[in-house]
Amino acid sequence: MLIPKLPSFDTNSPKKPVLGYTKYRFLSQRAKLFWKLLEYRLTNKKHPIVANLFVTGACNLSCSYCYPGDDFSIDLSVDQWKTTIDKLYDMGVRFFAIAGGEPLIYKNVEALVDYLYEKNVICQMTTNGYLVRQKIDMIRKCSMLYISLDGNKEAHDFNRGKDSWEKAIDAIVYAREEGIPVRTNFTVTKNNLDQIDYMLDLAIKYDLTTTFTPLHEGGERGKEDTYENMWWQENEHTIQFFKTLKEKKKDPRYAKLITNGDFAMDYHINYPKPHHELIMKTDKEASYYTKPCSFGSFYFQVANNGDVYPCGILWNKTHLFTPKNIFRDGFEEAFDNCYDLKCQSCSFSNPVEWNEVATARWFMDGVKSSWHHAMSARIPT
Ligand SMILES: C[S@@+](CC[C@H](N)C(=O)[O-])C[C@H]1O[C@@H](n2cnc3c(N)ncnc32)[C@H](O)[C@@H]1O
Ligand code: SF4
Repeated sequence: MLIPKLPSFDTNSPKKPVLGYTKYRFLSQRAKLFWKLLEYRLTNKKHPIVANLFVTGACNLSCSYCYPGDDFSIDLSVDQWKTTIDKLYDMGVRFFAIAGGEPLIYKNVEALVDYLYEKNVICQMTTNGYLVRQKIDMIRKCSMLYISLDGNKEAHDFNRGKDSWEKAIDAIVYAREEGIPVRTNFTVTKNNLDQIDYMLDLAIKYDLTTTFTPLHEGGERGKEDTYENMWWQENEHTIQFFKTLKEKKKDPRYAKLITNGDFAMDYHINYPKPHHELIMKTDKEASYYTKPCSFGSFYFQVANNGDVYPCGILWNKTHLFTPKNIFRDGFEEAFDNCYDLKCQSCSFSNPVEWNEVATARWFMDGVKSSWHHAMSARIPT
């Protein structure tokens, strides 16, 4: 296979003004979030602080491991999303993650980003990169941009579709040239276990940070083949992957580029079940991790049709969780419905990382990394 050349990039090139990323906004948004999380730690009262809005179920790709969605046809209107944002803000949400489906194809995503920008809350967007060039003025108003990248062309295209790698790389380089900080999100499957070095070289070349996420069970988009055949690696391979990553993080060149916390990597390394299996409250492994899961405690997902989930993993698993809808059942009822879960813990990275935020252990590591992000050259003054 011909290996495509990566575009060049000068990490010292002058940065253009970037609205959502100034140090002051970054620090004030983090402070507001931190205050809410501290309150939560002190009171233990479950309520939304972080909300993942799956603004649309539609997508311009069809990655067969993709997890979101039951119903890709019914997206809330812009006004319904604004009402939802207002209500979530009143309930305590200070961190909004915008995803989907592909958020950049939602018909008026600009209006939602503007709305969040005015509220001065964290607005993180995760995208496959296809429309980053077209939507760059809106992206400037986000507080964080994540672009999904699963490794080199061969690995990425296998996971996410022919020629999707070129689009993701183009988006990364273009956003960086525009002075926008970028984090890549790498989904660990059996096809890209050897891609850590590639991702770290890329992170140095384009001045990126990277999160490595274990695969969890997909949804309706998965089609041609079984998960076992296409995606799941043996447990020992996942364990080896995170052991290697942890070693790499000890190297000062890479320490600040890998966003996975040491605690979360150890959690994956010692996970007592196959990584794609949940640990239920009734399982003998339930004592592996006993802290209440942040998902369903302060982190929630609102689906494109207004259904509320504690966690994307519970999508399509009606034997484990039946969602309620904010417009049909009411906000309070839809969120109250998420507080009592049958699962105890799982190997999805995100809840594992969030479980630790604003705990004593996190103070040792998380504060350092937030400070680094704020003060590094990536964020303009
Ligand atoms: C669902 S996508 C939505 C945003 C956008 N369409 C994208 O691909 O970046 C958000 C992230 O979830 C990841 N993802 C999708 N299916 C997954 C699965 N089964 N397990 C773990 N991560 C998954 C994607 O790779 C992507 O980084
Ligand atoms: S992972 Fe993202 S780009 Fe791929 S199908 Fe799912 S929503 Fe679309």
